[in-house]
Amino acid sequence: MKNILVTGGTGYIGSHTVVELINLGYNVVIVDNLSNSKEIVLDRIETITNVRPKFYLGDIRDREILDKIFDENKIDCVINFAGLKAVGESVRIPLEYYENNIYGAVVLLEEMQKHKVYNFIFSSSATVYGDPTSVPVDETFPTGGTTNPYGTTKLFIERILMDLSKSDPNFNIAILRYFNPIGAHPSGLMGEDPNGIPNNLAPYITQVMVGKRECLNIFGDDYDTPDGTCIRDYIHVCDLAYGHVCAIKKLESKPGVVIYNLGTGKGSSVFDVLHAFEKAYGKPIPYKIAPRREGDVTANYTKVAKAMNEIGFIAKYNIDDMARDAWNWQKNNPNGYEKKND
Ligand code: NAD
Ligand code: WQD
Repeated sequence: MKNILVTGGTGYIGSHTVVELINLGYNVVIVDNLSNSKEIVLDRIETITNVRPKFYLGDIRDREILDKIFDENKIDCVINFAGLKAVGESVRIPLEYYENNIYGAVVLLEEMQKHKVYNFIFSSSATVYGDPTSVPVDETFPTGGTTNPYGTTKLFIERILMDLSKSDPNFNIAILRYFNPIGAHPSGLMGEDPNGIPNNLAPYITQVMVGKRECLNIFGDDYDTPDGTCIRDYIHVCDLAYGHVCAIKKLESKPGVVIYNLGTGKGSSVFDVLHAFEKAYGKPIPYKIAPRREGDVTANYTKVAKAMNEIGFIAKYNIDDMARDAWNWQKNNPNGYEKKND
């Protein structure tokens, strides 16, 4: 499999995966509606790889553009990153989330079937485990109990993919449940560029470091964990990108539906992450303890055995590396992709 259609390929995880794919000799075609990313990402991809991927400005809900893409390119495999992902926003505008994410995936799959493209990789999330009864979680843990519409879109799409696979055995599908991707490309040319106030921990911290936010609010220090803050499995976005290559290789063996958790297997608290960023910064980062955030689970991290044994996936970066690269990106691009320096 050499020709990969990456939907959402100018987004945070998509762009890093595109670089990884190009570096490993894959031909990449991107479709993105730029609802949460910028075209300048293509320049950055080109600077890093010396290759400019073919880009279609378009929406995965638009059958015409998908027909055009599949007619003009021989696609072997589709990686579907396209989707809305802000948890809080999904509570406010659930229908937009269901329409964009679920309807979008359905249209994309229908178009794939029509054009006889049967390899599909789906960006799912550890959020499908809800509040796990114990940690680490493995892929056999029950899914459900999602705490917001965003998470529910991931859960429903997973179910749709299982049904599709049963009905049409031509399909080979990898469902990848990401834990907490953070970090940036080591070049400092690509990274996470959220709109407005960041919802997630790492981009919030880097915006404090660059002086855009006053201090980090730590959402609760009274959880039942060693330092009282929640525990997550942070994974470097470049490791995560490589996980998609492992999944492509797996699909070549025509496995039907396969599911992998992608994380490091190591749980880190909010304070652990803060301290990793302080190490990269060389000075303390201001913070205060704030109330708990609704919907947060105490701890979630993964067992790595299945991904390691079946697809050879091993994360090589630790949280110090993630913090160093995220800081390097933010420092070089204080306003994200908007302007290089200001
Ligand atoms: P992102 O917002 O940076 O990237 C998503 C991209 O998809 C954006 O470039 C956006 O413009 C595009 N897009 C959205 N809807 C589209 C549509 N209908 N048609 C075409 N393009 C569309 O997000 P990300 O962090 O790179 O996440 C990528 C995927 O991984 C998402 O599906 C997300 O839900 C999933 N995921 C992300 C995380 C995380 O913490 N970042 C964790 C688990 C899963
Ligand atoms: C991590 C920890 C917060 C911000 C979310 C989505 C999930 C997936 C990944 C998907 C928690 C704490 C955060 C802040 C804080 N997304 N925190 N102050 O909630 O594990 O997962 O992103 O696509 O679906 O739910 O990640 O980075 O928001 O939070 O104290 O300003 O940091 O309470 O313990 P989360 P996060």
